[in-house]
Amino acid sequence: MNTMETNVDLFSAIHNGIRGLLYHTAGQLQTTRWSNPDDARAALDQLAYALELLHEHAQHEDDLIFPAIERVAPGVSDEAEAQHQQIDAKQAELQQLADHLRQETDPARCRAGVQALNRAFTDFMALYLQHMNTEERSMLALSQERLTPAELLAVRASVQANMTPERYREWLRWMLPAQSLDELVPLFRQVRGHAPALVAEQFMTIGQSALEPTRWEKLLSELAA
Ligand SMILES: [Fe+2]
Repeated sequence: MNTMETNVDLFSAIHNGIRGLLYHTAGQLQTTRWSNPDDARAALDQLAYALELLHEHAQHEDDLIFPAIERVAPGVSDEAEAQHQQIDAKQAELQQLADHLRQETDPARCRAGVQALNRAFTDFMALYLQHMNTEERSMLALSQERLTPAELLAVRASVQANMTPERYREWLRWMLPAQSLDELVPLFRQVRGHAPALVAEQFMTIGQSALEPTRWEKLLSELAA
């Protein structure tokens, strides 16, 4: 039996997860009752967590994914790498706004700080969404044309090896609910058929807790068919 994926995609699943992370964080920032200290802290903690994940993702691309594609298509990642610098600067600005807000006690200055943070985050999100489109347009098809499935799988494995098992599970909690059923059904089939039992079990546990119940039930019934 051929157990290897033939169309290995290094970008779409993780980018879908990041889109889900950005939408969720924007929603939380926008709907938080900032006058409640616990809610305010939770929103700022979510922002810090999202920025940490995005920083980690950019490092995986800079250190592992881009160099692999650059070897077969020199210069192809230049634009995306330049955008990473721009994104880094925006992330630092966001962190600064959040730090100020954490210290702020004056209600009027707090309201102004919340407005500034929300606007900065939506600007940042727009930039980040465009950045991921740039990466997908410039590198996804090219990587599949010029690298073999085995080479692409090795790059993906190197990314997974660069994070703790707990962090991998956190990424899965963002990635799984951010895919459509048309993507989830073959993914779960692949994992259940070919991944180690422990990995398959994690997919099932995280899928059940992260997907909406109706989508989870649908996924289970399609997997059983
Ligand atoms: Fe990127």
